[in-house]
Amino acid sequence: MLHYMCSFFMKSIKRIKNLSGKHVMVRVDFNVPVEKGKVTDDTRILAALPTIEYLLSKGAKVILLSHRGRPEGKKKKALSLEPIAKYLSHLMGRKVKFVNSLVGNKAYEAITALHSGQVLMLENTRFHKEEKGNKGNLAGKLAAMTDIFVQEGFAVTHRADASTVGIAKHVPAYAGLHLQQEVKSITHIVEHGKKPFVLVVGGAKVATKLPVIKKLSARCDHILIGGALFNTYLKSIGYGVGVSLVEKDLLSDAQKALKKKKVIKPIDVIVGDAEGKNFRHVILEKSPYRVCKRNEAIYDIGPETIYLYSRYIKQAQTIIWNGAIGLYEKQPYSFGTLSMARLIASCSRGKAFGLVGGGETIDALHRAHMLEYIDYVSTGGGAMLTFLAGEDLPGLHVL
Ligand code: 3PG
Repeated sequence: MLHYMCSFFMKSIKRIKNLSGKHVMVRVDFNVPVEKGKVTDDTRILAALPTIEYLLSKGAKVILLSHRGRPEGKKKKALSLEPIAKYLSHLMGRKVKFVNSLVGNKAYEAITALHSGQVLMLENTRFHKEEKGNKGNLAGKLAAMTDIFVQEGFAVTHRADASTVGIAKHVPAYAGLHLQQEVKSITHIVEHGKKPFVLVVGGAKVATKLPVIKKLSARCDHILIGGALFNTYLKSIGYGVGVSLVEKDLLSDAQKALKKKKVIKPIDVIVGDAEGKNFRHVILEKSPYRVCKRNEAIYDIGPETIYLYSRYIKQAQTIIWNGAIGLYEKQPYSFGTLSMARLIASCSRGKAFGLVGGGETIDALHRAHMLEYIDYVSTGGGAMLTFLAGEDLPGLHVL
């Protein structure tokens, strides 16, 4: 409970006295879905705009830091932030400069050339090995190029990296406007969320989600699962899941965390190929067997599961959702995820309180045209779940 209270004591950017002419490095989370070079959901970018505009209006020189994807310390053109900088220019109606480095001469020159009221975006923080886990002196190098650090990427505050935690130890650090709003809103849900409390969780990031599911089990009445979490669980109890997305190192953890009675699992699935050309409906049998052929994977939940899950969602008074239930970007695998979007939206704003978070999950809501029916949409996925589970978020802690 302590971290919920501590969060109210974060220093707001409104407390910074003289911003004029100051370099302000703002950590945002612009890890947004991009398809064929186009941003398909800009919720995370829009959320950071008021902070960027506020800093500019006070005469600051704004430098944006973000990650995109998981390049694991390697430069990957497909994960460059250049298209995001272009998109931001278009949104803001002003030039957002971009430099294809994070530290070193090029970045330094671009930063020193900035004037008051200008914005510069640096390249993907995760192109550097030292970013993850705040290793080496990347944080020191970043801090040397700024006067002030602002955290505005709530969605990445569960990661203790150089650009989220390290830098805040070298220069004065403040909380962005949206970050404060996230903390306030999610804390309100923790304190006032009514029962039955239903958590819907899917997505690909098993390692991030398993520990928080364990913690959240005490608070939730039912946990409905899908995505890689379910595949990993099925494999752990002996089913053949072909080439489904599975976290092989976490089989026994998944089995332990997900075998609980309150964790409701799919009873049927859609399996097929990644292109969606060949697919079939499979009702799951009770004892382990080969669900997928060698080249098939589980790509969605089936209609029986959608019906089963709808019964839990309709009874709930608090519904929290993070993580796509299937490969929702591809037909015919979108039905499970889009059905969750419609169901949760139809129960929100009245009958139940609906909290939905995470980049892909917001994208799915967006595609289903259901975004505006949800009570609160958080930019955070793993961060939102970690916060709800009452765990420490290192990126908040340093503020
Ligand atoms: C997210 O999409 O949840 C955030 O951008 C964090 O990404 P990560 O799980 O790769 O750290």
